[in-house]
Amino acid sequence: DAVERGEYRHYMLKEIHEQPNAVAETLEERVTHDHLLAAAFGPDAERLLAEVEGVHIIACGTSYHAGMIARYQIEQLAGLPCNVEIASEYRYRDPVVPERHLFVCISQSGETADTLAALRLAGEKGYLARLAICNVPESSMVRESDLVLMTRAGPEIGVASTKAFTTQLSALALLALALGKAHGRLDAEAEANAVAELRALPTAIEAALELDGPIEKLAEHLVHRHHALFLGRGVHYPVAMEGALKLKEISYIHAEAYAAGELKHGPLALVDEDMPIIAVAPSDALLEKIRSNLEEVRARGGELIVFSDAESGFLPDERTHVIALPRAGGPLTAPAIFTIPLQLLAYHVAVHKGTDVDKPRNLAKSVTVE
Ligand code: G6P
Repeated sequence: DAVERGEYRHYMLKEIHEQPNAVAETLEERVTHDHLLAAAFGPDAERLLAEVEGVHIIACGTSYHAGMIARYQIEQLAGLPCNVEIASEYRYRDPVVPERHLFVCISQSGETADTLAALRLAGEKGYLARLAICNVPESSMVRESDLVLMTRAGPEIGVASTKAFTTQLSALALLALALGKAHGRLDAEAEANAVAELRALPTAIEAALELDGPIEKLAEHLVHRHHALFLGRGVHYPVAMEGALKLKEISYIHAEAYAAGELKHGPLALVDEDMPIIAVAPSDALLEKIRSNLEEVRARGGELIVFSDAESGFLPDERTHVIALPRAGGPLTAPAIFTIPLQLLAYHVAVHKGTDVDKPRNLAKSVTVE
């Protein structure tokens, strides 16, 4: 055990640090220096993807958050409608499937009972094809799907998923690009820019990992808290959800994520000096929107932890902590980059609290029974 963990105190920390490599592996031989390789999704996939008129993504847990992020990218890059749903809900509905839709299941293990059941149900629903984005080649989902895109995270031991998530995001970015390309929405220049952004992701993750020291210090502020509220907007709303999930899974602090625009519709009532607010706020088109949400939090005495970048102009004060990411990435990669400090934050809070980081109470790595 100690041999496999090497210099790291926990598997989770090791796996957090494996992300630059795992992401690079997942992109390997699927993109050249300036374009996406047609064969990335299998020999016949190009023709098939051109026929797709909409996408249904199904997953559980962290994999569901990856799907939620992909939705923004698929809609934006491919102009296709995309629904994302939790597998345990999907499988007990009677989902109506429009013509020429692609079913996508996302799963680290490929064995999660609800996701597998959803995949099987999808087999009776007349989808154009069923694609599995998965980390385990010999898994049931890989065997039972028509198309497969493997994430190449390698074995993930920590129950709280880290490298599986960022490799899923990488694979899903490839899917969004492939769909955009197949639908003629991406000229050569746009494709080259997107590929360059993806290829820079491992380095950007490395740069984010450099923030470990300040984040460890920041974690001390959360150790004695009982609640935390995560906020994000747009593609960073699911990033906030993933941050909240990490924190609750391993530190047992009650954490919820809200789309920042929903603040006024309820959670603002919870804000006082005992409720830390953790915001994912990169300088993108929604920066000013989230900035004004955070002003409202501040006006009510809440303590703010803001993950942003150098351009955002957030200034620290006695109740505002700002962590600026050195490389913020673009729309395809920012979600993965901003996930890194949230993983580190959850990790260090858990270590300070002395919980069993790699095996949190009551949780399992792979949920193979309902
Ligand atoms: C469990 C794990 C999570 C994971 C979820 C879905 O809850 O603890 O880390 O995100 O299952 O697992 P899957 O293997 O389908 O991605």
